[in-house]
Amino acid sequence: MAAPRFHDLEIAAVRKQTPDAVAITFAIPEDLSDAFAFTPGQYLTLRATVDGEDMRRSYSICSPLDDTGRRTVGVKRIADGRFSSFAQGLKKGDRIQVMPPQGRFTARIGGSHDYLLLAAGSGITPCLSIATSVLAGEPQSTVTLLYANRNSQSVMFLDELNDLKDRYTNRFTLLHMLDEEIQDVEIMNGRLDADKLETLARHGLIDPKSADAIYICGPEPMIRAASTALSALGVAEDRLKFELFTPAPGPAPKAAANGAAKVPGATPAGAAVEIILDGARRLITVDASADTVLTAATRQGLDIPYSCAGGMCCTCRCRIVEGAATMDENFSLEPWEIEAGFTLACQSRPTTERLVLDFDAQ
Ligand code: FES
Repeated sequence: MAAPRFHDLEIAAVRKQTPDAVAITFAIPEDLSDAFAFTPGQYLTLRATVDGEDMRRSYSICSPLDDTGRRTVGVKRIADGRFSSFAQGLKKGDRIQVMPPQGRFTARIGGSHDYLLLAAGSGITPCLSIATSVLAGEPQSTVTLLYANRNSQSVMFLDELNDLKDRYTNRFTLLHMLDEEIQDVEIMNGRLDADKLETLARHGLIDPKSADAIYICGPEPMIRAASTALSALGVAEDRLKFELFTPAPGPAPKAAANGAAKVPGATPAGAAVEIILDGARRLITVDASADTVLTAATRQGLDIPYSCAGGMCCTCRCRIVEGAATMDENFSLEPWEIEAGFTLACQSRPTTERLVLDFDAQ
């Protein structure tokens, strides 16, 4: 299977969500409809030249599954975020490079389930797609969405959420939590942290133990706190799914799965790294003390797939078919993938003089 590639898409609409967030809708031409098929929870990677620099960022799809011919993402401006600021100025008719949907924070529609979704800020985007698709595609399923924001001005997709509440009165529960604005219901004031989840569960406002799947999307401290609290409440780890925006300092959640410790030998300078991409082979040199495979490839003019460059999104996933490498961080590969020889090019440094990486491997 070919590695993901960017496509030039036209923006069909831009809708202001909050003072610092927009929803951007792309028109998907018919000949790209298969490439842009998605599972609720996946994201698109956008690419543009910002201030003379080639930049790419991933944003979750908030469209429901039945939104044929269109894909919408939500982009919230973050402090010092050059791409997210640039995106606020995009308008209908602009064209931008977009990579087909990717990501593993997904809900496959079918069957009957009770879902609990925990979202903070722009973490609502994949949760909105999951909630809308589940409620429309699984007539027996229920969705409880706990959505945390600073204040009512920062709530994204309020109309869409209210519409879901009206349409699915008995199957959709929406709980807003605000930490800089007082709401009438005292328990819904404050931050979405471990104590709050425990309190909400104790009062029966959420029921994590009986949820078939729990999706958590937001900044890393919130994800860590929620995971800890849910484990303490007796929720099995295999029912939790999470999507990181940006990692906080400290050990990666899946650091134990990192193949680094298993790779013997010192890191050699100037390793020969062969890249297999779309069936073609290219050779680059990687000084492991200075570069990852991604930074060396970019400097040497080789365009390999990547998005976050932070070990979170898996866009740069490839298989080691010869040699060995160590990863700086791993927030996304599962233990079985490490066992099978997969690595993240944006985090990989060769530890053998020759390394062969296959980006076409699945
Ligand atoms: S580019 Fe996102 S994990 Fe490597």
